[in-house]
Amino acid sequence: MPTIHYILKDGTTREVDAKVGASVMETAIRGNVRGIDAECGGCCSCATCHVYVDDAFIGLLPPPDDMESALLEAVASERRPGSRLSCQLTVTAAFDGLTVHVPDTQV
Ligand code: FES
Repeated sequence: MPTIHYILKDGTTREVDAKVGASVMETAIRGNVRGIDAECGGCCSCATCHVYVDDAFIGLLPPPDDMESALLEAVASERRPGSRLSCQLTVTAAFDGLTVHVPDTQV
């Protein structure tokens, strides 16, 4: 079972075991990770699931599609190269160890 690492604003890390096929957002919600509200429930319309994927893992992920990319232009925190909407990241076995940072504005 892949483990996702969520680094919070205070520097602490939450490790949550993920189900293959679930999203990184759903995994965070199930693990009670602070700062990932997912107000739209994962339909790519709220951007409250924004995360910064750690540099070491950016190349592992498929690029955002047009809809995700457009919404990333409107996130509360600055958009960075690792910015992703965690509801759009579907966990595979290759995600084991994936590390994402929760933006400071999401608490
Ligand atoms: S949960 Fe709303 S955009 Fe991801």
